[in-house]
Amino acid sequence: MTSTNDIRRSFLDYFASNGHAEIASAPLVPFSDPTLMFVNAGMVPFKNAFTGLETPPAPRATSSQKCVRAGGKHNDLDNVGYTARHHTFFEMLGNFSFGDYFKEQAIHHAWTLLTKEWGLNPARLTVTVYHTDDEAFDLWKKLTGFADEKIIRIPTKDNFWAMGSDGPCGPCSEIFYDHGDHIWGGPPGSPEEEGDRFVEIWNLVFMQYEQAADEIVADLPKPSIDTGMGIERIAAVMQGVHDNYDTDTFKALIGASVSLTGVKAEGDQRASHRVIADHLRSTSFLLADGVLPSNEGRGYVLRRIMRRAMRHAHLLGASEPLMHRLVPALVTEMGQAYPELVRGQALIQEVLEREEAQFRRTLDKGLKLLDEATGDMGEGGTLPGETAFKLYDTYGFPYDLTEDALRSRGIGVDKDGFDAAMAQQKAAARAAWKGSGEAASEEIWFDIAEREGSTEFTGYTSTTGEAAVVAIVKDGVEVQSAGEGDAVVILTNQTPFYGESGGQTGDAGRIWTPEGLEFTVTTTNKPLGRLHAHVGTVAKGSVKVGDAVHLVIDADRRDRIRANHSATHLVHAALRNRLGGHVTQKGSLVADDRFRFDFSHPKPLTEEDIAAVEAEVNAEIRANEAVGTRLMTPDDAVAAGALALFGEKYGDEVRVLSMGRKGGEGRCYSVELCGGTHVRATGDIGLFKIVSESAVSSGVRRIEALTGEGARQWLVARDEAVRAIANALKTSPDEAPARVASLVEERKRLEKELADAKRALALGGGAGDAGPADEDIGGVAFSGQVIEGLDPKELRPLLDDAKKRMGSGVAAVCAVNDGKGAFAVAVTDDLTGRFSAVDFVRLGVEALGGKGGGGRPDMAQGGGPDGSKAADAIAAVREALAKVSA
Ligand code: SER
Repeated sequence: MTSTNDIRRSFLDYFASNGHAEIASAPLVPFSDPTLMFVNAGMVPFKNAFTGLETPPAPRATSSQKCVRAGGKHNDLDNVGYTARHHTFFEMLGNFSFGDYFKEQAIHHAWTLLTKEWGLNPARLTVTVYHTDDEAFDLWKKLTGFADEKIIRIPTKDNFWAMGSDGPCGPCSEIFYDHGDHIWGGPPGSPEEEGDRFVEIWNLVFMQYEQAADEIVADLPKPSIDTGMGIERIAAVMQGVHDNYDTDTFKALIGASVSLTGVKAEGDQRASHRVIADHLRSTSFLLADGVLPSNEGRGYVLRRIMRRAMRHAHLLGASEPLMHRLVPALVTEMGQAYPELVRGQALIQEVLEREEAQFRRTLDKGLKLLDEATGDMGEGGTLPGETAFKLYDTYGFPYDLTEDALRSRGIGVDKDGFDAAMAQQKAAARAAWKGSGEAASEEIWFDIAEREGSTEFTGYTSTTGEAAVVAIVKDGVEVQSAGEGDAVVILTNQTPFYGESGGQTGDAGRIWTPEGLEFTVTTTNKPLGRLHAHVGTVAKGSVKVGDAVHLVIDADRRDRIRANHSATHLVHAALRNRLGGHVTQKGSLVADDRFRFDFSHPKPLTEEDIAAVEAEVNAEIRANEAVGTRLMTPDDAVAAGALALFGEKYGDEVRVLSMGRKGGEGRCYSVELCGGTHVRATGDIGLFKIVSESAVSSGVRRIEALTGEGARQWLVARDEAVRAIANALKTSPDEAPARVASLVEERKRLEKELADAKRALALGGGAGDAGPADEDIGGVAFSGQVIEGLDPKELRPLLDDAKKRMGSGVAAVCAVNDGKGAFAVAVTDDLTGRFSAVDFVRLGVEALGGKGGGGRPDMAQGGGPDGSKAADAIAAVREALAKVSA
């Protein structure tokens, strides 16, 4: 038997040996195609190469492309498990020519590979061509010698292949395999074609045109070839079976599920094993390509598939989560061809196990409700839509799971009723939101979110992408288009732009189209927490709702933001280690040029604390451990040791970021709940430096810090400052601190000497315009002095000295500094019964243009703004003394 792996290899080898470049499968999420949910055909990654927008990887290529059809237009979910050929996941083998060869070689290669290389019997093959395609008809005829009735002309869209309403398209030729007359059915185009005897195995598309809105609008630059062969179908043919689920890969997966559940893959349980095997493939590959279960968009399609499989695991009586235990079998079968499965195995298993454990908590109750609601219903009955909605809303049953659960009993579901209940819930949410008092102008976001759903964020893994414009908002109202110079907000169905949230600033960048739009995104907001609103200005061209646009974030800026965000996690852990478990985050701001982190702590950090935190964070950065991301329920995350922001509202699911080296119990240095964007490994942070520490409010401190290049530049500036100091001091940077310290000491000493000298000078009596020392006023000794530049602090010591010297008398001194006068008067103790220093000072202060002054009868002091009146102040005391002593 030829294994599926051998078939894949031999297909690729055949085309490689015929000059085709072998191209690895693109990821399942088509970041370059906004109109598609998942890659659903081998040519999707080459779409732009066919239309001439991008240069092809080579003139001819071959690939084995992973495809998912579930959700969106090609929704095969309902039938999967119950038919021979429906899958949510399949592989498409293909060969492609980008303007290199056309029909003749495409037909030649297909025929050679099938009949010569693989030895299929030509008698079993039948081909179709588009009814007007005489060229293809003649080529087949010449090559195969088939009778005319084995080259069937088909006039319908079946033989005109288009990617969608837009994109490359052309007539096609399909090759069918006849599984034999023991199966009912007829050749294509015959009345029995619906039967399963003739199975299409290969579609050769002769790409010639480009479509827009289902109309052919242009010839492709060069006629090209796109072929697609589902590997599961050709494997069935080559392994001599009719049913895809009987091929080697599926047998192995079903075998694993049989051995783990102990339930045979026959009878009633056959479909369950098949559902599980198929869904195991799609969910594992989607997880490996970065899709995670959620309640929106792609994540919800994944969740629907997972839960459908999990109900079937429950049907098989599996008492423990089953899906994750089947992953090793899948990796054995497909890991060699798709190494992303091997790389992602741990994550895949973990997410599947968590999802199944979580779903099991409500599954039983939901099924019981379902039984009660349908207990007396017979075949042809209908479950009320409201019950289906309750199952969805309360028990986590996706709509199609409920449908699937009732399928075997022939009971349907009232879809309209379900939709109505859903609409009612949305209306209630809007009413509650209005009641919360949010600005009415914000209601526009509610309208958009309800109509378009949440924006899908693709920016955890990508910095560029394509998207469809779903709304444009100008001055608070929705508009259909915007032109040059308009300041508007653009919303798209998906985006790599992070919307400001969780302290992390929004992304900046550009949105453009090949038609000439150039939109500068200055920032991105996140209204309602689920729309990503690109705020900016149309620099060139125009944009309208429905346009397919390219989005490019400023990746350097984002890298700096990432580094800063990851550093907040490390600093949080380091602060807790250093200061204690009372430290919790109180807020943060993560910008591209700096970040700040607020935390609870009752007192300022010491220099040692700051140094220790810096050292610890930098050690984790140098350890360069990969950063891990997982999705969990909030409770599980907290149980796993994640630091959560108390009082913060989290959804059903949270991202858990693990960072740094593993410590006790295998727990990483930092484990936190976070929706932000982070570095891949801590080494990407580069360097960490705290530049300030301050108080925000009582009990809350703030650290401001820098990382990477910003931190380096800050240190360089510090270094330059130290050098400048050293140069000024004519010493080396190393010696500078000691030099500065000794200069400060020296200055202190000199200041003291200067003060002493000034005082000595004043006491020496030679201080300028003070007048003669020790006058005799009515028998009382009086000394009055004005001293420029005397430190007011020196007034009292000076007067103490004067009192000592005089023995008995009155002394007044006015110190003049910066135009102001400081004035003091002393009265020796023997005279305080007659005069009060306070009275004298008040007079002097008045002369200086001031008011008041105070002290004791023996010593008082004051001051006034007009130092030029210093001599008047002295004179005022002299006169008063003359009067009192007369
Ligand atoms: N694009 C065509 C298909 O999907 C052939 O590859 O069938």
